[in-house]
Amino acid sequence: MLIFSIETSCDETAIAIAKVKNANFHILSNIVSSQAKDHAKFGGVVPNLSARLHLENIMSCIDSAFKKAKILPKQIDLITVTQGPGLIPALLIGTQTAKTLSYLWQKPLVGIHHIEGHIYANFIKNKISKISNFNIKFSILCLVVSGGHTQLILMKKHLNYKIIGETLDDAVGEAFDKTARILNLGYPGGPAIAACAANFPAHAKASAGRQFTIKLPRPMINSKDFNLSFSGLKTAVLYTVQKNKKLLKNKKFIQEMSYEFQQAAIDVLISKTIKAAEKYNPKIIMIAGGVSANKELRKQLGSAIKKNLSNAKYIMPDSKYSTDNATMIAIAGYYRWQNMGNTQRKKALNNWKDLKTSANLIL
Ligand code: KG4
Ligand code: ZN
Repeated sequence: MLIFSIETSCDETAIAIAKVKNANFHILSNIVSSQAKDHAKFGGVVPNLSARLHLENIMSCIDSAFKKAKILPKQIDLITVTQGPGLIPALLIGTQTAKTLSYLWQKPLVGIHHIEGHIYANFIKNKISKISNFNIKFSILCLVVSGGHTQLILMKKHLNYKIIGETLDDAVGEAFDKTARILNLGYPGGPAIAACAANFPAHAKASAGRQFTIKLPRPMINSKDFNLSFSGLKTAVLYTVQKNKKLLKNKKFIQEMSYEFQQAAIDVLISKTIKAAEKYNPKIIMIAGGVSANKELRKQLGSAIKKNLSNAKYIMPDSKYSTDNATMIAIAGYYRWQNMGNTQRKKALNNWKDLKTSANLIL
């Protein structure tokens, strides 16, 4: 089976072609055209600019995907697309393109929730992934950390999600982006803060050795539920620099602040994940979404799981598939397709007219 996939929910125009054969998921092409540089001058993603750039780029991305995959459009069996949530002007470019191709090629079209894609990115291993690896044990606890979402999700079976906790305000990726903006580190903020934090000298990590003795709050770390909050963290950074604007010119301050901000966010995420795992006893713990590319989060969560939970296996997506891409939409789409009966599969043939794009799609 050959799957053609589109993802345009934010600022990456992403196209992928995957083949499923003999219980193997092969990535034939994974094209990601990032608009990050175009949005950087505005300090964040501008929805209409994003739509315009998707529109300008999508056909050449599709062409590149077919050339790289060395297959022809008529060979495609299934089309998958991010249906939501995301920026509606951006999503519409992807869904309208997918609907047009579904009509033209007379092939079924399956809409995928963006976060479902991020979660299933955990099952993409290299270019070829054994489907048998996907036959993993449930329940799974997944920490979703992206620019728009921060959630703890419990999966008792494939394609089944129970949100057991989530942010009450900003998503953690959004907090990284806003904090980077306050510190003049540019967009996207997550990688910029991570890079600055990595330059903070190891000997100063214990607070005694710090030049500026910055101590940020760990919001909601002691609350009994599994909810989170990140807007106060960003505000604490803002207040510190508002009190003394000269600090923004001090490279050592920026490093210490980036380190402390990143660590505060990681401390809360890990604490809540471990607490949730102690309650629900999952067989597997996974991370998903753009912030799951953060090396410190990956490493420190792994250590915390090893230390506190003897029975849980830890899975992470390859960092290439942590941030937005269309391969994750293809693999989630494959699972959706496998789970459909004949009637649903027939209905998917009408999705060229029926599929609804939704900025607030529910998982
Ligand atoms: O999943 P994603 O690519 O798009 C959304 O679905 O939102 O996530 C983007 C978010 C941005 O906020 C970006 O700053 C953050 O992921 N991010 C990171 C890192 N790489 C991307 N945050 C922290 N450390 C990183 N290495
Ligand atoms: Zn995403």
